[in-house]
Amino acid sequence: MKLLTTTKELTADISALKTLGKTIGFVPTMGALHDGHFSLVRKCKSENDICVVSIFVNPTQFNNPNDLSTYPRTLEQDTKKLAELGCDMIFAPSTEEMYTTEETNNQFSFNFGGLDQVMEGPNRPGHFNGVVQIVSKLFDLVQPLRAYFGEKDFQQVAIIKHMVKVMGYDTIIIPCPIVREASGLAMSSRNQLLSPEQKVTAAQISHILFESRQLIQCQSIPQVQSWVIEQINRVDGLQVEYFEIVDRDTLQPATTWNNTIGCITVHCGSVRLIDNITYQTSNC
Ligand code: PAF
Repeated sequence: MKLLTTTKELTADISALKTLGKTIGFVPTMGALHDGHFSLVRKCKSENDICVVSIFVNPTQFNNPNDLSTYPRTLEQDTKKLAELGCDMIFAPSTEEMYTTEETNNQFSFNFGGLDQVMEGPNRPGHFNGVVQIVSKLFDLVQPLRAYFGEKDFQQVAIIKHMVKVMGYDTIIIPCPIVREASGLAMSSRNQLLSPEQKVTAAQISHILFESRQLIQCQSIPQVQSWVIEQINRVDGLQVEYFEIVDRDTLQPATTWNNTIGCITVHCGSVRLIDNITYQTSNC
């Protein structure tokens, strides 16, 4: 496995692989890898000749400087695990390698077609601008045939699919299911910031989301929305930032239970956790 830190080395290696006709699969990450990421890497390996993983804590997608400085960084551990999984190449650049000072200081502009107007969008201003900025840069460098993203970040996947269409990339976006701890807690790099007690508390988020599936037969969308928020806020140590039930394709507030997903952000102490739940009318 190669560990590359410069765009020059990466571009040279990718171009050599392309000349050999190899298919390239790509897993973009911010490191602090967990089983959720490893499931993406395994899928990437099984579907492509070459698996490239990027590890880069992207400053332009953080709207809170404290969140950026406390984001877990575990490069040595990540590298070891990726080697065990048979990853072919890790790209772990510095901020200076990826951005000019001008780029870091000015918000990247992109037309999200309204996908940024809900949920994480208004709650994390500028977040998706930074995500599209870095993912497009990485796609330009890696030129992947397929790229793998976890569905825990459901809105991010929708935005990346939109980006691919609007910017004309050939890359196929492969959304992969949420991986959960045995407790039900959705795996996230941020879980490393939770104390053992907070982990137990945070598992309530998924329990309540799963329970809400039982309600959709006899309750309206606003009723289920209020029920989930109320139940989670009742748990000592949890505070809901938003819970929205939206159409899976447009991300606009759902008016019927068809094709819906409930997306939530909850604060557990100072740790911001996200999760989601798919509602199907067959849950009735
Ligand atoms: O999901 C993430 O870890 C990040 O948003 C991504 C896609 C690697 C871009 O920095």
